[in-house]
Amino acid sequence: MKYKLLLAGSLFAIIAISLLTASVNQREAERIAINERPLVAQKIKHKNEEWARYYPRQYSSWKKTKESSQIIDMLKEKSQLPILWAGYGFAKDYNAPRGHYYALQDNVNTLRTGAPVDGKSGPMPTACWTCKSPDVPRIMERDGELEYFTGKWAKYGSEIVNPIGCADCHSNVTGELNVRRPHLDRALEAAGLPSFADSTHQERRNLVCAQCHVEYYFKKTEWTDKDGNKKVAKVVTLPWENGLTAEGAEKYYDEMGFKDWTHKISKTPMLKTQHPGYELYKTGIHGQKGVSCADCHMPYTQEGSVKYSDHQLQNPLETMDRSCMTCHRESEQKLRGIVTQKYKRKEQLHELAMDNLAKAHLETAKAMEAGASDEELAGVRADIRSGQWKWDYAVASHPAFFHAPEETLRLLAVANESAMKARLTLVSVLAKHGVMDYSAPDFSNKKNAQSLAGVPLEKLVAAKNKFKATLEKEWYKIAVKNGNLNMDSRKEVDEESSYFSK
Ligand code: HEC
Ligand code: HEC
Ligand code: HEC
Ligand code: HEC
Repeated sequence: MKYKLLLAGSLFAIIAISLLTASVNQREAERIAINERPLVAQKIKHKNEEWARYYPRQYSSWKKTKESSQIIDMLKEKSQLPILWAGYGFAKDYNAPRGHYYALQDNVNTLRTGAPVDGKSGPMPTACWTCKSPDVPRIMERDGELEYFTGKWAKYGSEIVNPIGCADCHSNVTGELNVRRPHLDRALEAAGLPSFADSTHQERRNLVCAQCHVEYYFKKTEWTDKDGNKKVAKVVTLPWENGLTAEGAEKYYDEMGFKDWTHKISKTPMLKTQHPGYELYKTGIHGQKGVSCADCHMPYTQEGSVKYSDHQLQNPLETMDRSCMTCHRESEQKLRGIVTQKYKRKEQLHELAMDNLAKAHLETAKAMEAGASDEELAGVRADIRSGQWKWDYAVASHPAFFHAPEETLRLLAVANESAMKARLTLVSVLAKHGVMDYSAPDFSNKKNAQSLAGVPLEKLVAAKNKFKATLEKEWYKIAVKNGNLNMDSRKEVDEESSYFSK
């Protein structure tokens, strides 16, 4: 009996070990396949479909990012926004983020990129493509970075045609994780941090995301091309010299006298935060404990004996078993409840900050109308600028309430303080000019708010639709002809936006 047990035990052990070895071997084989040089080098460039043959699992999970397709019109959800951004593109059109699969189409569809009629017309610079497509590093490497950053957005309409994909995060030579946008390494150096190449493997699993999920601005850069022509490039630059914080970036912008735009209602020289997701994440507990973006957003998935990274980048609350339960011991339901609680806490301060800032803009306009001078309003405008910067920083990378709850609440509290300070001063400025009991006009829905902000919505939509029926169609024809696009890959791009749906 004893021997039989022993025999069965060792047989079991042998089988288990050989299974394990098989799986280890398989993983080892896969790892080698991944890093094998240059598996696909000459053929694979930028089109995502080209990678499918070699990495079918990663490809098919990547493609599932198209399941996150819902358009959420943030200007409807938060009608303070058109007031806060009056005179700036975001007052026209602004949706919550969707899957990477739509990044490029959403950029083409948004009213912010306007309705160019040829390669030279505006309104946006080429820089607006930078975080949308693996065609960007392809063109930077072909034309040179400064040439890429020179000219209008429409210049590359027929070249930048594939949505965020493999060649954005992987070397198209070795397949290894890679960043192919030079602005990140420049910023890391300015901040005194290790470059991508010098970073740990775990940090690289963040830095690939930090190519795009960061705060940036377009730095005006004069240069001379090889034929001696003087040109001006607008180069994506991360303001990290004073550290990766809201205050550090604000100091950077203030010291160079920078503004993104002049506010249409209050004439304040404003800053627009982009999406400092990486910077904020670093201040949160997961960032500090070394849990990477990929740990939650790209959890390992077992398929038979093969383990791979799920490339369907999405909300990790959809994949809690693989994204959270690897470390957490409480029930999914309980953990989800904690996350919701964090969201609600943020929402309260978020709404207060937006209301106070929007009213501060409108009350400033009233003060101007009543005859207040720029000198009288200088302090008010400084408070609005600083407060709105902090508010925007806290919420522009949407789920900072989860990635960095304390920092988000701190920034919103400071934003509120600045907005209230501006409004208190405004009460006395208004009184001095004979205005008592002024209350700001109603901005409780998108229509009212856009009209107060002077957004000519119908005109913008008509122009955009014309562009979509003409130049945009031309772009794809040219791209197909030049071998940069498979028209089939566009078939499934669901055309939807805040102003039209099928
Ligand atoms: C090349 C630029 C780029 C890179 C690299 C990138 N992102 Fe994104 N990401 C975007 C853009 C742009 C959007 C918004 C797309 C849209 O709304 O159309 C987005 C959206 C998202 C979303 C929202 C998806 C949804 O379903 O709502 C998540 C989550 C996300 N990214 C996570 C990541 C993570 C994690 C990484 C790194 C592993 C990463 N991203 C790398 C540009 C990038
Ligand atoms: C937003 C960035 C991003 C994009 C886009 C992306 N990957 Fe990845 N990929 C990663 C990260 C992060 C890892 C994990 C690497 C690690 O830990 O070594 C990874 C891992 C891999 C691996 C190694 C095996 C595994 O699953 O962990 C392969 C192969 C791979 N990706 C192929 C692809 C292919 C093919 C595409 C396009 C369809 C693609 N990747 C798109 C970031 C990305
Ligand atoms: C500890 C896990 C975790 C880590 C680490 C993490 N995230 Fe997230 N992320 C989440 C969760 C959970 C949400 C969804 C929160 C919500 O909206 O309910 C989210 C949401 C997002 C979204 C917004 C999705 C949307 O549709 O609004 C983006 C973009 C994003 N994360 C990017 C990143 C980037 C970039 C990093 C690394 C710098 C990162 N995340 C690190 C858990 C994580
Ligand atoms: C790789 C491990 C790891 C993963 C994966 C992970 N966490 Fe955590 N989480 C931690 C650690 C470590 C802490 C810090 C507390 C501690 O040390 O116990 C933490 C703390 C938290 C906290 C409390 C901290 C706070 O901000 O108030 C919440 C909530 C949380 N995690 C939710 C999640 C969710 C949701 C996911 C999945 C989307 C997730 N975590 C994924 C390791 C992880």
